[in-house]
Order: sequence, then C-alpha cells, then structure tokens
Amino acid sequence: MIKINDNFLNLQEGYLFSIVNKKIKDFEDQHPNKKVIKLGIGDVTLPLCKNVVEEMKKACDEMGDINKFKGYGPEQGYEFLRNKIVEWDYKSRGIELDVNEIFISDGAKCDVSNILDLFDTNNKVAIQDPVYPVYLDSNVIGGRSGNYNKGNDKYNNIIYMPSIEENEFVPDLPKEVPDIIYLCSPNNPTGTALKYEELKKWVDYAKENKSIIFYDSAYEAFITQKDIPHSIYEVDGAKEVAIEFRSFSKTAGFTGVRCAYTVIPKELIGYSKKGEKVLINKLWGRRQSTKFNGVSYITQRGAAAVYTEEGYKQIKRNIAFYMENAKTIRERFIEKGYKVYGGINAPYIWLKLPEGKSSWQFFDELLEEEGIAGTPGVGFGPSGEGYFRLSAFGIK
Ligand code: MLT
Repeated sequence: MIKINDNFLNLQEGYLFSIVNKKIKDFEDQHPNKKVIKLGIGDVTLPLCKNVVEEMKKACDEMGDINKFKGYGPEQGYEFLRNKIVEWDYKSRGIELDVNEIFISDGAKCDVSNILDLFDTNNKVAIQDPVYPVYLDSNVIGGRSGNYNKGNDKYNNIIYMPSIEENEFVPDLPKEVPDIIYLCSPNNPTGTALKYEELKKWVDYAKENKSIIFYDSAYEAFITQKDIPHSIYEVDGAKEVAIEFRSFSKTAGFTGVRCAYTVIPKELIGYSKKGEKVLINKLWGRRQSTKFNGVSYITQRGAAAVYTEEGYKQIKRNIAFYMENAKTIRERFIEKGYKVYGGINAPYIWLKLPEGKSSWQFFDELLEEEGIAGTPGVGFGPSGEGYFRLSAFGIK
C-alpha cells in the first residue's frame, strides 16, 4: 500500500497567498464593478526592463541557430552570470567570493526550502515570527516541526522568535540554541532591515553555537538607508556560518521569468553523524546536479543584462518607482491615524492595527470599504496578529 508523507497532514490550512487570492477572487466575483487595488501578494507589476528584454530576444535567436543552440547548461548556472554576480553584487561592496560559491536557480522560494535536503531532520529550527510562510511550511513537510498546537498556533519543535513592535521587529537571541536560524532582511513581512551590529550579533551567536544562518536577502535592492548591510558577508566571519539567498524576482521583475541565486561559501561546514566536517558548498553542488537541470540560457542571459550600466539604471528606476508607492501607502495610512512600519528599506508596509482588531477582520473591512486587498499579519505567524501587510508592488 502506498504511504504518503504524513507531514503534509501536519500543515495548516492552505498556503497563505493562495487563500488571500481566493478571497480576492470571490470578492471580485461578487462585486464585478468594483476595482480592487491589490496590495496582497508581493508580485511585481512593472514590465521587464528594456535591456533584459533585448538580451533575452538575442538569446532566443541563438537558440534557433544551429551553430549557437544550447542544450543542458551547467546545473549551477552559466559563468557569464555568476561572474557578474561576484563583481556587481559582492566585490562592489568589498566582499570577495569565488564564482564556485554562486549557484543560479529558478527562485529563492525553491532554494530556501530545497536547502533543507542537506540537513538532518533532527536539527532544531528557529524562525522569526511573523515570517515568510515558506520557511515554516517546508520544515513541517521535512518533519522538523513537531506537532501543531492549536492553543498557541505554534509547532512544538520550532523556536519562534517574536519580531514585534516591542523589540522594533528585531528578534532577540533565543534561549534554546537552534541549529538552523532563518533571518530575512529586509524583512518580509515587517519591512524592517537589520543593522550591522544586529547582524554581527547573530553571526557571533551562530559561530559560538556551530549553528547555520539561512539569510534571505531577496529584498536587499530596496534598501535606501546608507548604513544598512546588503549582505550578511559584510560581517566578518559570516562566511563560516551563513548561506545567502538572493533573487531577481523583485529586483528585476522576474517573478514570472524565474531566476535567483544562492551563495554558499567554501568556509561553511556542517558535521556528519560521525562528527566529520563536510563542505556545505560541495553537498549543494551534488544535490543540484542530481535534482536540478539549471535555469534556461535565455533567462540567464536576461538576468546578466541587469549587470550593465544601462540595465542597472533601468532596474533602479523600477525599484525607485515601487519605493515611491511605499511612501504613498505609508503616508496615506499615517494620515488615517495608523502606526506604520516598514516601507523605507523594503517594499512592504506593516500596519499596527487598533487594539482588538483581528488581522482577518481588517482584511475584510479594507476590501469592502476601500477596495484594497492586503495580507493579514496572522498569516505570517501568531505574532503577526494585530498587524497587516501592504505590498508596494501592486500599483503601476
Ligand atoms: C510575498 O508576497 O511574500 C512574496 O511575494 C511571496 C514570494 O516571493 O514567494
């Protein structure tokens, strides 16, 4: 008899953004004449920039040319793109990386969950609360979460690190030591970005405890304040303890194209059951060559076009446009009397709701009364109750 992975039965409801989308669709069906401003899922709305489109067209032509056609590419990505990443995203900030430390993929969402293949199920996991739901759900599926406790809306084996108004949305070091620590900065959903000293605290903690940090910096391009680190590797010693996940999705409008990358430094080691040291970089390379056939040549050519003077200017224009939206949304809700966070170093605005107002209740009211769809804070974790996320991507 075929047995399923029972961990799936341990997942709660549906995936957050599918639920939000379904609710919006139901509302639109019931109110065909009402226009909904969609600030729920963080999906980009501006088209790809000109440079990217032109490069992708050229790459298409190559694929139709018998002398230039390409079949399977390298699983870890083409060097032309990985070299650009090393130069433009890291060397420019004083970070030395080797091209073999960069792995191109079809999305940070896939990478942050697939990376768990490399780690034992008995590792203890810490997540920020609220958090991008993929971190938690993929650990539930992988059998690391323990059972769900309805009473506190938490999984028994997960360490939840509240990131709330009281600690300025910066989690405290947990009392119980985790093996895997997820950090997202600039943060989805709270919009808060970690300062250098805060990041250093985590790097030192991970070193001391032989833990690993999964650092999701998919929104680094939205940082506007000068003193905020863009990469965890700006902190000395971080290469020994952190994997960094980046994406072209929000930076260059690739949510429908699919391209991202993950950085795994050679210094990063894990331990086998026998206590031997193992290079994580090598394990991921092995994993990817077994389970992944790389991102299309056309897509990688498009991504590489971002790293040209013109391409960079074009994506920066789009990012500035979204950040102008963020400012408008912030101001609008401040005027209405809300406490508003985020929207300065991130494309997400995080509203504090009036005492006693649940985030799903607010979702319904905002949709009904103003035709604005957002995402209820509680969908990102129990500490998100009483908050509400608005995305700056939805207005074009
Ligand atoms: C979000 O709305 O949080 C993101 O768009 C989801 C994602 O990037 O997968």
